[in-house]
Amino acid sequence: QKVILAYSGGLDTSVILKWLQVAHDYEVITVTADLGQEDDLDGVEPKALKTGATKAYIEDLREEFARDYIFPMLRSCALYEGRYLLGTSVARPLIAKRLVEIAKKEGAAAIAHGATGKGNDQVRFELSINALAPELKVIAPWREWDLMSRTALTEFAEKHGIPLTSSSKHYSIDRNMLHCSFEGGELEDPWTEPEPESHIMTVPVEQAPNEPEYITITFEKGDAVAINGTFMKPMDIMLSLNKIAGKHGIGRLDMVENRFVGMKSRGVYETPAGTVLYIAHQDLEGICLDREALATRATILPRYASAIYNGFWFSPEREAMQALIDKTQEGVSGEVRLKLYKGMAWPVGRFSPNSLYCQDLATFEECATYDHKDAAGFIRLQSLRIRGYADRVKRY
Ligand code: ARG
Ligand code: SIN
Repeated sequence: QKVILAYSGGLDTSVILKWLQVAHDYEVITVTADLGQEDDLDGVEPKALKTGATKAYIEDLREEFARDYIFPMLRSCALYEGRYLLGTSVARPLIAKRLVEIAKKEGAAAIAHGATGKGNDQVRFELSINALAPELKVIAPWREWDLMSRTALTEFAEKHGIPLTSSSKHYSIDRNMLHCSFEGGELEDPWTEPEPESHIMTVPVEQAPNEPEYITITFEKGDAVAINGTFMKPMDIMLSLNKIAGKHGIGRLDMVENRFVGMKSRGVYETPAGTVLYIAHQDLEGICLDREALATRATILPRYASAIYNGFWFSPEREAMQALIDKTQEGVSGEVRLKLYKGMAWPVGRFSPNSLYCQDLATFEECATYDHKDAAGFIRLQSLRIRGYADRVKRY
């Protein structure tokens, strides 16, 4: 029987690859997704084959990831628990989708993944697989085997000739073109400041240039389409902005979050391009989005963020919320000029052909369309119940 394994080439998934053969007698086909993690994927196929895989897929999913996952999510301005830009959460459904496609093509009976039994990722992989192909079996070795410690894992690897990668496994890292996340190590104590190794995509702010840099981002219907006037595909927007923002140390987050399975977990994130796009997009909405459309979308954002965080990307509720979000973006086109400096990005100018901002209306000078006198009646009616309350119940 064939099983499709989500394979990174690291120690854990190499051990899983071997274990599926030894303990279950499976024929294993590995799938390694390129989501812009900038790992060297050249050695992955030979390594998988050497460890007993009968076939090793390397899938470049970068453009699809940027276009169909990152960009739709960024249209929302959603943050999990008010802060986290969902960099890992939004990637898992795409990996699951590709695993399912390959499982069908290969006639496999099962999909295996290397997420532990304590985290969010297992939930995201499995809910996505269930949504796309409920008939497929899922194998989560971390929940099944008895290799519960690092030592047991290393012993198994040595016994089966799996090369131990020398890279000191300081953190549990998940990287793609949207973010790099760090968990474990000294971060397990929420009081401890992260080590310098937690900088991969961004420089420490002390090393950021002493001069600010100005950039312009162009948006069409809520999606970034150009940087400094150069039009690019979503993936290239991400890659190029990661460099620019990373150089200025922008997009770091250190937080204790609530995992779906119930425990609190401390993580450090670097989300350079995502952070700048979030700030720019939100600013453009300031001139393009109607007040009540903005407020209506805001009511669903905590739910939308939780849906993605909790693994319900492929779900009726995420789709319905996405439709509302996308509808609000029809007029969100234009440009935002930002100043990048020492870990920060400030919008300093914005322009839109669909701007709802009316200088005539806002000006402190004389203006024909707004009569000051109307405001008196407006306030009198707004205060109707406030005055009644003050008269009958309580004066503040
Ligand atoms: N805590 C983040 C999340 O749940 C990051 C998870 C990182 N995953 C990993 N396998 N290192 O989205
Ligand atoms: C894991 O447990 O595999 C990583 C952390 C997470 O999924 O939240």
